[in-house]
Amino acid sequence: MKIGIISGHSIANFIKDPEKIMVETAFGDISVEVSRLEEHDLFFINRHGEKSVIPPHKVNYLGNVQAFASSHVECVLSIGTVGSMKNSIQPRDFVIPHDFIDLTKSRQQTFFDDKRVHVDMTNPYCPSLRDSLIKNCKKVHGATFHDKGVYLTTEGPRLETASEINYFSKFADIVGMTGVPEIVLARERGICYASLCVVCNMAAGLQNKLTADEISRIYTEREPIISKILQGTIDSIDEKRNCNCKNDLSKATL
Ligand code: HPA
Repeated sequence: MKIGIISGHSIANFIKDPEKIMVETAFGDISVEVSRLEEHDLFFINRHGEKSVIPPHKVNYLGNVQAFASSHVECVLSIGTVGSMKNSIQPRDFVIPHDFIDLTKSRQQTFFDDKRVHVDMTNPYCPSLRDSLIKNCKKVHGATFHDKGVYLTTEGPRLETASEINYFSKFADIVGMTGVPEIVLARERGICYASLCVVCNMAAGLQNKLTADEISRIYTEREPIISKILQGTIDSIDEKRNCNCKNDLSKATL
C-alpha cells in the first residue's frame, strides 16, 4: 500500500535512506521523500516545505495533498504539534483527535472552486486509521495518550491570547495551526487521514510563558516514540478499511 506521512518536523529516524523526488502539481512542485517499510511505499512530506521554513498560514496545503493524491497514496498519517487547553492533557502526551473546529481566516479550503462539492465532515478523521493509531499508542512504552479530542485550528502565525484560550477551551481540547485545511483536502481527494498530535505546551495563560523553541524541543524529545507509534501503525493498517473516506466525494457533488 502507498502511505503518506506529513509532519512539520523531520522524522529522520523513521524515514531511512529516502529517495528525494519532486512531484509536480497544479499548485506547485512538492518535495517528497520516498522509502519502503516492509511491503509498503512511504511518501513523506514536510508540510512547511523542504527547508521547513514556510509559516502555517502560507503552507501549500493544496500542493501537499495533491502530491499525495498524484502518488496514489491511500492513507495519510499526519503528525502535528499542539498546545493543550485542558489540565487532563499535559505536555509530552499524545492526542488522536476525533473532530476539529476551524478558526482559520485566509486559506484556500477546497480543490473545488468551479463546482459544488460539499464533503461530509461528520467523521473528519478516518475511524479505521484512528483505531490503528490508538492500538499502537497502547503498545508503545512511554506513550501517554488520549484516544479522542477536539482539535482547534487557528490561523497563526502568532500564538493565542490567554482570553482566546479560555474561550476556545469551552469547546475544544487542543490547539494547533495546520490541521485545517489539510484534513478537508484529503477527504476531497478520497484519502484516509488521521492525526497523531504531540502536546508540546500548555496553551497561553495555562503556563507562564510560551516559546517556539520549547515547542520544537519537546517534539524532538518525543521523536523516537513517534517513530515507534508510526512503525506499528503502518504495520497494522487495514487494507480493507471499513470507512467511507474514499466514497464520500460521489455523495458530495451537486
Ligand atoms: N497554539 C497553537 N499552535 C501550537 C501551540 C499552541 O499553543 N503549540 C504547538 N502548536
